[in-house]
Amino acid sequence: MRRKVTVVGAGMTGGTMAQRLAETGYVDVVMIDIIEGLPQGKALDLAESAPVVGFDARVVGTNDWRDTAGSDVVVVTSGVPRRPGMTREELLNTNAGIVREVCQRALEQSPDAIFIIFANPMDAMCHVARDVTGLPRQRVVGQGGMLDSARYRTFIAWEVGCSVEDVHAYVLGGHTEATMVPVVSTAMVGGIPLTHLLPKERIEAVVQRTRNGGAEVVSLLKTGSAFYAPAAATVAMVESILLDKKRILPCCAYLEGEYGIRGAYTGVPVRLGAGGVEAVYEAPLAPDELEGLRRAAAAVQELVAVIK
Ligand code: LAC
Repeated sequence: MRRKVTVVGAGMTGGTMAQRLAETGYVDVVMIDIIEGLPQGKALDLAESAPVVGFDARVVGTNDWRDTAGSDVVVVTSGVPRRPGMTREELLNTNAGIVREVCQRALEQSPDAIFIIFANPMDAMCHVARDVTGLPRQRVVGQGGMLDSARYRTFIAWEVGCSVEDVHAYVLGGHTEATMVPVVSTAMVGGIPLTHLLPKERIEAVVQRTRNGGAEVVSLLKTGSAFYAPAAATVAMVESILLDKKRILPCCAYLEGEYGIRGAYTGVPVRLGAGGVEAVYEAPLAPDELEGLRRAAAAVQELVAVIK
């Protein structure tokens, strides 16, 4: 039997994720949205691509939570995206209400699912999801660091003039401009420290562009936020869970003392496998980077405290 993933929200990100997941061939995908016709239309269109692409996965679009029953993974993309000039934090209360509701409904149907939270402001939405579901930290994980690290790696590769595949660099901390921590001290390109390959000001420019990565796309699109890289980043997390790959990926996890942080969701390297977040790793960081992680944790706690 194929595994089952529910994607909540049939917008650009949800649709692109569904496509990537279906095309793996080993996942049945359910796309659910409150808008009538949208998930059904996208699912039908995607299903009709199957003979050409060559996958047998089932793709279902629905407005009915019962269709999501028995999912192994639930990805929450629903919520309103940013418009130009908006911060992710401005979405707080609207999206908190949505995330609360969908997590509750999803858990009723899929009591064993692992939840991946993508709605913004992502770090705070992880808290909302954890609170409403009462699940252990293994089963509620946020997607932000994966995306920000993908952007960081892209910009590094462009700057160095090398393949993106040879760039190993991570963005930890929060998924906001102010709180993300693009880690420079351990960034490597083909086994060579980044600091050895690029001058300080070029690294600083790359770090700055990474911080601004989401907003850069929003300002170009004008009607929504990024979805190709977000979808790819999320699908890598789903794959690591469903295939029990145990990849070590930068994800938003609930910290219980790691890095001196307790009771906050923050981006850190985690091991993602069949059990969800199976381990949280404490990476050696430069003092300012560690400070950045702690600031990110404090910021998300402040944000969560003002959710209505
Ligand atoms: C971004 C949004 C989706 O970073 O969080 O593009």
